[in-house]
Amino acid sequence: MIKYTDLGISEDEFEQEISPRLKTVFLSGEFICDTQVKVFEDNFAAYCGSRFAIAVNSGTDALIFSLNSIGVGEADEVITVSNSFIATANAIAMVGAKPVFVDINENLLIDASKIEAAITEKTKAIMPVHLMGHVCDMDSILSISKKHDIPVIEDAAQSVGSMYKNFKTGTFGKTGCFSLHPLKNLSGITDGGIIVTDDEDIAEYLRQIRNNGLESRDKQKIIGRVSRLNSLNAVILEYRLKKIQSIISKRRVMAELYNKLLNNCQSVSLIDVPDNIYHTYHTYIIKVKNRAALQKYLAEKEIETKIHYPVLIHNQAPFNTDNGTFSLDKTTELSSQILTLPISMVNEDEVNYICQTIIDFYADVRNLSSIESTH
Ligand SMILES: Cc1ncc(COP(=O)(O)O)c(C=O)c1O
Repeated sequence: MIKYTDLGISEDEFEQEISPRLKTVFLSGEFICDTQVKVFEDNFAAYCGSRFAIAVNSGTDALIFSLNSIGVGEADEVITVSNSFIATANAIAMVGAKPVFVDINENLLIDASKIEAAITEKTKAIMPVHLMGHVCDMDSILSISKKHDIPVIEDAAQSVGSMYKNFKTGTFGKTGCFSLHPLKNLSGITDGGIIVTDDEDIAEYLRQIRNNGLESRDKQKIIGRVSRLNSLNAVILEYRLKKIQSIISKRRVMAELYNKLLNNCQSVSLIDVPDNIYHTYHTYIIKVKNRAALQKYLAEKEIETKIHYPVLIHNQAPFNTDNGTFSLDKTTELSSQILTLPISMVNEDEVNYICQTIIDFYADVRNLSSIESTH
């Protein structure tokens, strides 16, 4: 079986790399938001090219606190997309605001040309999602942000290390929010998240809100939560941050091979990656016709696939009250075509096998008869 992913590690790696690091934390007695967390924060900020990094309990909290930090609240609106993980919209709703969903483009990213039409006097932020490790059209988004004086909060949960014109994602908006969930390219051993910002006041606010609102040990300034990264997670994240480039490079090599092998398959459309974008392939998604049959066929051939995401956010129970008011034609059209292929653990032979299996599926006239080309 070619598994979509497997989060387990080898016994060797555990013994040689993980266990000694965990032991250091246990022996130090510093478990929460201490030296090890600060080391990871500083190194992550340097990696992104940001002034500050503030670690929190999850990517969702990173988004919520970022919205808090720029004053988004009750009755405000935040522009984002519907084809994301539900956390994007949940974070907006958790601060009392309303997500306003804008359509996407062929590359599954926010269609920047549709943003201005969605702006109202209530719009308090734009939250582009760098889905898959791809990157949104930041030049257009930043120029709209500047023109209307509406801050950008980047949902960079899936895009650690991705770049736009050689600048890392997360560094374009007021803040950039990353998830360190075990499934992400930079993966922790429990939930985790981290926010980058160049704004000193926002950084200080974020440090307080994650820690009961305390500005010093006994003095509270704002209402806050408890959302601190623990040191056990931080030492593993620090270890994996040192290896992040090789993790990303391997994914990019496999993605390139997929692209090469599927490029001529008439029934498959590939995601386009402009030259000025460095894609890190948190997921490798293709667009296909006859998806359900293909997915079933691949499963029969021992290939596990996923759909990101099977239910669009505006169709989820808490968010479907405004159905019909958003114009999401492309989002809806593409949601029935997207298919995520394994990328995190595959080798060259497996990618060859997966692509040949897809090509074989469409070579069968019975599968072709009910579909049209996606090109
Ligand atoms: C696009 C997106 N936004 C936000 C999140 C939330 O991150 P977390 O699960 O760490 O809270 C995720 C995580 O899957 C995500 O993929």
